[in-house]
Amino acid sequence: FRIPEPRNEPVLSYAPGTPERTALKKRLDELSARELEIPLVIGGREVRTGRMAEVRVPHRHAQRLARCHQAGPAEVQAAIEAAAQARRTWAAMDPHDRAAIFLKAADLLAGPWRQTLNAATMLGQSKTPYQAEIDAACEIVDFWRWNPHFMERIHADQPVSPPGQWNRAEYRPLEGFVFAVTPFNFTSIAANLPTAPALMGNTVVWKPASSAVYSAWYVLKLLEAAGLPPGVVNFVPGPGRQVGDPALASPELAGLHFTGSTAVFQGMWRAIGEGLSRYRGYPRIVGETGGKDFVFVHPSAEVDATAVALVRGAFEYQGQKCSAASRAYVPESLWPQVRDRILAMIAEIRVGEVEDFSTFMGAVIDRAAFDSVRKYIGIARDSSQAKILAGGRSDDTKGFFIEPTLIETVNPRFKLMEEEIFGPVLTVYVYADIRLDEAAELCASTSPYGLTGAVFARDRDAIADLTRRFVDAAGNFYVNDKPTGAVVGQQPFGGARASGTNDKAGSMGNLLRWVSMRAIKETF
Ligand code: ALA
Repeated sequence: FRIPEPRNEPVLSYAPGTPERTALKKRLDELSARELEIPLVIGGREVRTGRMAEVRVPHRHAQRLARCHQAGPAEVQAAIEAAAQARRTWAAMDPHDRAAIFLKAADLLAGPWRQTLNAATMLGQSKTPYQAEIDAACEIVDFWRWNPHFMERIHADQPVSPPGQWNRAEYRPLEGFVFAVTPFNFTSIAANLPTAPALMGNTVVWKPASSAVYSAWYVLKLLEAAGLPPGVVNFVPGPGRQVGDPALASPELAGLHFTGSTAVFQGMWRAIGEGLSRYRGYPRIVGETGGKDFVFVHPSAEVDATAVALVRGAFEYQGQKCSAASRAYVPESLWPQVRDRILAMIAEIRVGEVEDFSTFMGAVIDRAAFDSVRKYIGIARDSSQAKILAGGRSDDTKGFFIEPTLIETVNPRFKLMEEEIFGPVLTVYVYADIRLDEAAELCASTSPYGLTGAVFARDRDAIADLTRRFVDAAGNFYVNDKPTGAVVGQQPFGGARASGTNDKAGSMGNLLRWVSMRAIKETF
């Protein structure tokens, strides 16, 4: 039989009076009213270690959402063993039967579970209803509908068989377990990283980010409700090294599916490389890390569309997207208009509690993020090369709030033009129109990252020229749109250079990394 042709899950509006708005408010109240105790889940069994970490609401840090048991080396070992045991039946299962579980999970999420994951993502990660809906509802549904479709296409790719032979390609899961390490900023990534390898027949040890363990827990419960067998995905939240070191040291490690910081990814890659002789094979390493994503504005650009894209690209979800627009190059002929338009929009932006549906920006995830972003704003404040045009203030009395901040610099190599900030800070370099070539060259080559980028232009020749020039600068490249918000099945997502291995999330390419082909020749 065939996997149903996937269609993207429509994004609900949450406009006043809509049923989804009422349902979401109700679910927010219910989740907010009780504190969870989150255990580990190993081989389908809940495990309580008694070593606890706290989960707080980022925009209301007096409120504790959950206390979470923490894994250490012994629990990681138990999770690896549970994965090995579950693998025996899971790897042998008909791929369509595995797919059915994720298709069912998608249907549950599109229906009765939708507001649970949205509310959990709002409370746990300070996303607005709209950002939560796109991330925790639609994008996860899309991953779980598109990945089975890609899986089927992979299995359908078969070699030719001359008369007297039957040649087959068997897409076997990797031999061992896959270690999935997921970030705080997208519930969808937390859901996709363990489940994409699982769909292909692997079993998984999953370490969710400590700061997003709350929504991760609900993802796990949803997978259980859809019928995922025990031990296929083992849930081991805990401190990075306590969980990561024993997982990477295990001879059973067959793959790493990672999204997070560049430094952590490089450290893990090194650890795998240095310990290579201990593994049965060569662990597959798939990672998506940081970005310093650009918007390059051509003098022919449309002012309004450019300004809207810069505001949305830089400040939605408080700039905590690896794809966020964080450096812009604007010609001086357009800058006064673009700037004034941005300033007018920033003046309208509401920063605050995300349960208020008119909020555009919630809080940044935690104190460490708050301090780090403030440090960058401080660098701009203290420099003669930069000027803060809007925002710059922050307030941590109730939650970790930082204003949307617009900075202009005269130095295209200013620190804030080069380093990832992961917060609501947009730095702009204004170039002389006659030096466009130089500015484009600088934009394309200054960053070690290569995740996302955008150009704004109406001139068709300029679009073609800039698309060519930026060939290596971004794995996801946008023409006349913001560099964020890739949609599964429409813009396969991932970056090159220091941004990752570019094994696009939600693509056949990604799923191929989780199988190892056996070519079978049978002669008659
Ligand atoms: N996939 C996310 C985006 O495109 C990170 O913004």
